[in-house]
Amino acid sequence: MSRFESKVVVVTGAAQGIGEAYARALAAEGASVVVADLNVEAGEKVAADIGGLFVRTDVSSAESAEALVEQVTAAYGGIDGLVNNAAIYGEMQFDLLISVDWDYYRKFMSVNMDGALVMTRAVWKSMQQRGGGSIVNQSSTAAYLYSGFYGLAKVGVNGLTQQLAHELGGMGIRVNAIAPGPTDTAATRNQAGDASKELVKNLAIKRMGQPEDMVGACLFLLSGESSWVTGQIIAVDGGQTFRG
Ligand code: NAI
Repeated sequence: MSRFESKVVVVTGAAQGIGEAYARALAAEGASVVVADLNVEAGEKVAADIGGLFVRTDVSSAESAEALVEQVTAAYGGIDGLVNNAAIYGEMQFDLLISVDWDYYRKFMSVNMDGALVMTRAVWKSMQQRGGGSIVNQSSTAAYLYSGFYGLAKVGVNGLTQQLAHELGGMGIRVNAIAPGPTDTAATRNQAGDASKELVKNLAIKRMGQPEDMVGACLFLLSGESSWVTGQIIAVDGGQTFRG
């Protein structure tokens, strides 16, 4: 159980939910894990539990992302893996593209779409110095189902995944994404409530995903087992979507 021995992996949004499950699983397989989140109290608790490092990070800020790289390099010497999981989700407002408050829309996209790019721009040089690395972006099946601003940001994440795979592939840095289906986190319970029961009826596998269901794909994409896989978006969704 040491696939990630001597590897340093940054997981954004790891203070709770799916990111926390990634952080815990990576630590269990030997990685030095950096919990990068805005939520100091919960983030510090996860980091302490897994013997990792908490760095308060705002993924929408280039300064914050660069400060994280400095802090991680000082602590662990460099970065091998990055999981761009952070997003505004649980507290998200519902609105239409034609009426959403413009400042809210800009803020939302700066976290949910640009955040993956901001973090990648800060981290890739460190990966290059280590001889390569792996980046996993958190998309969503929402990208295939609707393009309200939440889905639209994930469409953007899918585009970033494809483009960055090409820009970074020559340096041995791979970029892939996971598209989770409806997953039972506190954020989803807050967002969807009883609507999830209806959603589940349309899945091939008739239950909500659990954060742990995402872990296998994430660790596969971060590990050498996927060394010739890049630019891909893997749906882990109980059969919610099908793309031929
Ligand atoms: P969550 O809301 O529980 O966790 C998100 C984390 O991101 C929180 O810890 C929050 O503090 C952090 N965060 C928010 N803004 C940030 C910022 N600017 N900088 C740094 N950290 C920030 O969400 P959950 O359910 O764990 O989802 C995680 C990811 O998976 C998100 O990208 C979400 O869009 C995606 N996803 C979730 C699904 C679900 O059903 N739960 C389905 C498909 C995708």
